[in-house]
Amino acid sequence: MRVEVIPTGSGCGAEIRGIDLREPLSDELAQRIYNAWLEHIVIFFRNQDLQERDHLQFTKYFGSAGDYMRPSTLRNNIMKNRHDAVMFVSNIRENGQPIGALPDGEMMFHTDTAYDTKIHKATTLYAIEIPSYGGETIFSNQYAVYEALPETLKKELKIREAYTAYEFGTTVKDKAEYNDPEMRSANHPVFRTHEETGGISVFVNELMTEKIIGLSNRKSSAYLEQIFAMQRETRFCYKHRWQAGDLIIWDNRCSLHARRDFPRDQRRLLRRITVQGDRPMSAAL
Ligand SMILES: [Fe+2]
Repeated sequence: MRVEVIPTGSGCGAEIRGIDLREPLSDELAQRIYNAWLEHIVIFFRNQDLQERDHLQFTKYFGSAGDYMRPSTLRNNIMKNRHDAVMFVSNIRENGQPIGALPDGEMMFHTDTAYDTKIHKATTLYAIEIPSYGGETIFSNQYAVYEALPETLKKELKIREAYTAYEFGTTVKDKAEYNDPEMRSANHPVFRTHEETGGISVFVNELMTEKIIGLSNRKSSAYLEQIFAMQRETRFCYKHRWQAGDLIIWDNRCSLHARRDFPRDQRRLLRRITVQGDRPMSAAL
């Protein structure tokens, strides 16, 4: 089979055709896929039939699988007896309880694991069951958002860090500050340099970034709102319409993702495995 990389033509993303991910990849092909991922930020493969072991094998071409960080109180039946890195995103309920994390509805733009000091560099999602409409994932290219920001704003925020927090399970933030005892938080540069591509990207997001440190609340909110609005602009985004059998991997260092709403009476089940990463490097260095 001939391997093809087909860009989506949107703000980021490419489809890779001609690969059955159940088969091990040659070093050359693994490198080609890795490079396509660095270039396009989000890559996806359609019509895959992946068991958990196949999914884990694919993830290893990108690095070590990252831990599923939810506290034990949030782990439920389906999570028991699984590899530590595996998480299910699902609205399916057994005995009234969702079998996976983040079950229903819309989810704001965010970076996975940005509430931790070290960010998981990649996330993979494999679609097992998908509703007939809705539930698309939207990816926003943060290199492009950085490029498009006004120079004055870039200069003003170049050396700044932002306070980033999260309460597990939140999909739409409806309070000004997270305050749950099990909340997680970390400080991160507003703009980061990608350790592999050298590109600069915006590293704040509307679900988790609460404040730019060292600015007044008013100024911080104004800057953040301006950036969040740009991150939502369609010119920077790719909207992925899921099909069962899709495997996606995206780069958390230079993209954000959000989820569209979908019907609650239809089943949605995806398997997620992340890849460990490092502490974000400030673009000011
Ligand atoms: Fe996510």
